[in-house]
This record gives sequence, C-alpha cells and structure tokens, in this order.
Amino acid sequence: MDRTGEKIAAAALAAVLLGTLVLGTVLPYQAVRRQRDSAPVSGTVPQGPFIALTFDDGPKTETTVRLLDGLAQRGVHATFFVLGVQVEGREDLIRRMDAEGHQIGLHTAHHAKLTGLTAEGFYEEVDSLRATLTEILGVRHFMLRPPYGMVNPSVQQWAGAPIILWSVDPQDWSDRDSARQAEHLVSRARDGDILLLHDIYDSSVDAALETVDRLMEQGFLFVTVEELFALRGIKPEDGTIYRCLLPGNA
Ligand code: NI
Repeated sequence: MDRTGEKIAAAALAAVLLGTLVLGTVLPYQAVRRQRDSAPVSGTVPQGPFIALTFDDGPKTETTVRLLDGLAQRGVHATFFVLGVQVEGREDLIRRMDAEGHQIGLHTAHHAKLTGLTAEGFYEEVDSLRATLTEILGVRHFMLRPPYGMVNPSVQQWAGAPIILWSVDPQDWSDRDSARQAEHLVSRARDGDILLLHDIYDSSVDAALETVDRLMEQGFLFVTVEELFALRGIKPEDGTIYRCLLPGNA
C-alpha cells in the first residue's frame, strides 16, 4: 500500500470508529420518547392531563444520579423533597436538579416526626434545611413534605410553607418490586395526582422511569408541584395541606 492508500485506509477506519462511537452514544437516547419534543408549542397552554412525580429521602448519589439521567433523557421534571443529612456533601446534585428544571423541597434535616416536636425542635429540623438549601440555590419559597405525612395544627402553623402530601403511594420501600410499583402508579394515575416514590432505591428508579414511559404513552405531561399549581391557577398557601390538584379543585 502506498502513502495515499495508507491515508485512505486510516481515514476509513477513523470514520468507522467515529460512527460507532456516535451511534453508540446517540441511539439509546433516541430510543426514549422525550416529553419536551411532543409538548405543545409555546403560546398555547397545555391542557394536561398532568402528573407530579415526587421523590423523598434523597439525594443518594448512585440512585439519584441514575434517576436524573433517566428523567433528562425523557425531558421530564420532578420534585425532590430532600433530607438535610443527605444534602451534605451532595450540594452539586442539588444544583444539578435545579439546573435541569426540577423542584427542590424540604423533608426535614433528619427525617423527624414533626408532630412530636417543640417549636424549637421544629425550627431546627425545618429552618436549618431551609437555610442550607438557600445557601446552595439562593432564596426560594421551598415547599414542605413532612416525614410520614404526619401533620397537626402546630406543624401547619409553624411550616412557613405549603404542605405537600400525595395522592398515590405504591409503598416502594416495602417490597422493592419495580413492576408492581409501576402498575400501582399507572393504574391509579389521574389528572392532577401527586405520586410518591423514594429516590434511594434502585427499584424505585426503575418504577419511576417505567411509569413515565407508560403514562407519557397515555398523553400525561409530567410537571413539578409548583408547575402543577400554576397550571391549575391555584396559589399555594403556607400551612395548607395539599394531596393532589385534580381539575375543578380551584
Ligand atoms: Ni421520608
């Protein structure tokens, strides 16, 4: 082979290698349907049905990163109610969630039962996390999800935030069976529901992504809790408990 022949052979090999690399990188992404691609063009208000996926108890690096990757592939936004002890050392993950359009909310510093606390204890659990998140993200009006969904009049009085519970709970912590959890979520989902999962289990990440794929097939649009309020034209009130925002609730 002369010089020219060698050059052509090298160029051909490089093209094949590059092609393999590009296809290998791009194809898996194209295989996933993206919500943003099929979302209505700007200027029209989407009519739903809407669903808010929410995740508690994280972030946990291994599982939360995989979840964020999967949601990003699908162009889907979710809401993360984080724990102070989990945020520590994972500030970059919180910034990533924010940069990718997810909502971040409060789930206390140490997963405390808020109904059993004095005012002082309450502020240590809630305000300390609020301060941490403010340091990372700047001043926001963070929503609160009390651990175990436990609420009483004191919690409502002290919250300083809308209290966000949920309307569909597959109890993903109990059996770690992602197929059962996805079936539970998909079969019950209604326009305006708030789904509860935990981004600390691999099975929950699988269930979440399967649920997104199946509900997107049915035409559901995934939004953050804040977006759900805005789309329903409801102003969230501090100390008020919300489980879902079905149409006609306004
Ligand atoms: Ni929790």
